[in-house]
Amino acid sequence: MANKLNMGFIGMGFIGPVHADAVALNWDISTAYAVADDDPAKQEMAKSMGLKTFQKAEEMIADPEIDAVHIAGPDQFHADWSILAMDAGKKLVVCEKPMTLTLEDSVKVLERAQKYEAEGGVFMTNINYMGHALPRAAREMRIKGDLGDIAIVQGFYEQDWLMDPNVWSWRLEGKMCASKDILPHLVSAAYFMGGLYPTRLIVDFATIVKQRNKPIGRTDAFSAEKVAVETELVEVESDLYSSVLCEFQNGGRGNFLVTQYMAGRQNWWEITLGGSKRRITWNQANPNEMEIGQSPVSEDSGKLTLQSVANLKLINNPPYLQAMGFTDAAQYSPYPGEHPAGYIDAFSRNFKAAYQVATGKIAREEAVIPGVMIGHICVAVADAVARSIEAGGKYVDVDYRGVDLKELKL
Ligand SMILES: NC(=O)c1ccc[n+]([C@@H]2O[C@H](COP(=O)([O-])OP(=O)(O)OC[C@H]3O[C@@H](n4cnc5c(N)ncnc54)[C@H](O)[C@@H]3O)[C@@H](O)[C@H]2O)c1
Repeated sequence: MANKLNMGFIGMGFIGPVHADAVALNWDISTAYAVADDDPAKQEMAKSMGLKTFQKAEEMIADPEIDAVHIAGPDQFHADWSILAMDAGKKLVVCEKPMTLTLEDSVKVLERAQKYEAEGGVFMTNINYMGHALPRAAREMRIKGDLGDIAIVQGFYEQDWLMDPNVWSWRLEGKMCASKDILPHLVSAAYFMGGLYPTRLIVDFATIVKQRNKPIGRTDAFSAEKVAVETELVEVESDLYSSVLCEFQNGGRGNFLVTQYMAGRQNWWEITLGGSKRRITWNQANPNEMEIGQSPVSEDSGKLTLQSVANLKLINNPPYLQAMGFTDAAQYSPYPGEHPAGYIDAFSRNFKAAYQVATGKIAREEAVIPGVMIGHICVAVADAVARSIEAGGKYVDVDYRGVDLKELKL
């Protein structure tokens, strides 16, 4: 088996270059090889870096020199490109979230990926923060029983970039924006850290900015460049705010609030899991410490002590994590404490684990990487959100079609 993987990237807008940078951090095991982007400017950029370039994703996927495909183009192409790359026999397919736009497509990708992995391929949905040490420590705490029974989940994801009616993104097309784009991070966090998936939910939502000036040409997401382009005024129906009340499979309750209309918040998201023994709160804008709240209900006949009730801060530091028995988290902690590990590091660590499986260095069963199931769960929840909105804000059951719920464990 090849020691180094040749990587092909589809989509070089905002997140594609982050993938490429994370690949560069794994220089011992991966090499950036090609880019497919239908924007000539992105092709020029890739060419200037010595990469092979393609206008069409399909042509890049067909190139036999490419071992692994990173899919970082707009959501509507994810399903087709994923299936094409698996059919082409690539060793690894990394697909950005959301894995697909519809539940029907998600079932297709799920079935294809299960067969593909049985044949030795690796499919990854890029739930990037799963590559960060402290969410992994939260997962280890939950598995060891340190959290107790989780009764309450609270997540919020706030951005402000779509407050401006002159900003346009393909994300605004259709009926879902915030609930399609940023909700998957909270849903996957509840599942990965807390082992919880919603069985029933209800949505309250608002469009807020109902008309926008849409460029007649094209723009990338989060572009700082304000280029004067011709625009047309369009009506928008999708949500800039959704609040999703959930019931989870264990009877726990929760609320996910997502919005791209919160002044001064660029990418502020946080998850709290309230268990019978402890609470954990992790914020991805301040990812190197996690708050642990202790229950005042003492196991020691009601006696309260400093150790039993003082809230704690878990710091991202490999030897400390190791010493506390968080061995998985320690492996995802790239630097000594107070050398901040951030966004790119989480991408890089996730990819590293997937590359190690794809090159036969570790077995698939040993790697806890975000696979097709976590992608499918997020799509199933998004589908329920769409049905609740369609029904005028009513409770709906989440349809995890194609999955035996007993198998939903991470
Ligand atoms: N995990 C994360 O933190 C994270 C963050 C941002 C975006 N994303 C996901 O990444 C994906 C891309 O988002 P983005 O913000 O980079 O978008 P973007 O609009 O900035 O970039 C999309 C790129 O795809 C290219 N493209 C569009 N249509 C194409 C086609 N038919 N063939 C080839 N190339 C095409 C565009 O030219 C552009 O370069 C989305 O699915 C999004 O949900 C994930």
